[in-house]
Amino acid sequence: MLICPKCKNLLIKSNNQFVCSNKHTFDIAKKGYVNLMLANQKNSLNPGDNEIMINARKLFLEKDYYKPLSEELNKIVIKNISNTNNEIVVLDAGCGEGYYTNNLAKVENLNAKIFGVDISKVAIHKAVKNNKIQYVVSSVNSLPIGSKSVDFITNVFAPFNTTEFERVLKDDGLVIVVCAGSEHLKELKNVLYEKVINLEEKDFVNYMLNKFKIVDKLNLKYTIQISNKEDLQNLFKMTPYFYTSSNVQKDKLESVNELNITCSFTIFVLKKLINKKTS
Ligand SMILES: C[S@@+](CC[C@H](N)C(=O)[O-])C[C@H]1O[C@@H](n2cnc3c(N)ncnc32)[C@H](O)[C@@H]1O
Ligand SMILES: [Zn+2]
Repeated sequence: MLICPKCKNLLIKSNNQFVCSNKHTFDIAKKGYVNLMLANQKNSLNPGDNEIMINARKLFLEKDYYKPLSEELNKIVIKNISNTNNEIVVLDAGCGEGYYTNNLAKVENLNAKIFGVDISKVAIHKAVKNNKIQYVVSSVNSLPIGSKSVDFITNVFAPFNTTEFERVLKDDGLVIVVCAGSEHLKELKNVLYEKVINLEEKDFVNYMLNKFKIVDKLNLKYTIQISNKEDLQNLFKMTPYFYTSSNVQKDKLESVNELNITCSFTIFVLKKLINKKTS
């Protein structure tokens, strides 16, 4: 399933390494993940989210504030499995610290091979919990995954690459993309900004629609009660607002101890356009 980032031949697991037929080798880290990111594919020494963001997100998500979203994603996968006797292949592209990936692996009787891919080595290191999931350091722009081998791609608040997603997805596979709904975290934004500018809805659909069609669109909205500073600050640090706010704005939030916050997610389920012609 995994392919060599150098020559694209299949990688075979052999002891503590992945090896291709051209003898390119990639060490498997003690924790079990593999780094398939080539030096020339990196724009910086440590690409992807930084440690502040990663730590904050891990601590916040571990409190299960986004569990309803995770459960919704699991439901979408489960209801779209056509034959439960066959092992399905799931790729969480831009998986971060693996909150959604690890929750999917916990679904009872799920016959699945699950991959989690993220460009951040720090995030992948934190994602590994057990050997149920193969975590890989790599970019969504050059997925080290064989063509037409994946049944479901999940992509939660993460970068996507339509060409690569289309290549690795089986013809009847699904891409499940999560973006922020327009009211997502509006109370947090209200504290920070006098005039609330809604983040433009991720304009991914336009990109996606040259290779995919939308087969379902769901909105998930609920309120969370955050009643401690630490969780509030972690939520703040995992959003882009942390990096765009001034010290004055940061101080404003620092003085808030509790907040009821709207979570609003838009989930797109996409299929390859090719199916249009054949179905
Ligand atoms: C907002 S986080 C979302 C992480 C996770 N899906 C979640 O919701 O908890 C975006 C993730 O995309 C990763 N990322 C950024 N550029 C990437 C790329 N080119 N390929 C793969 N992952 C990338 C970051 O390192 C980060 O972990
Ligand atoms: Zn190779």
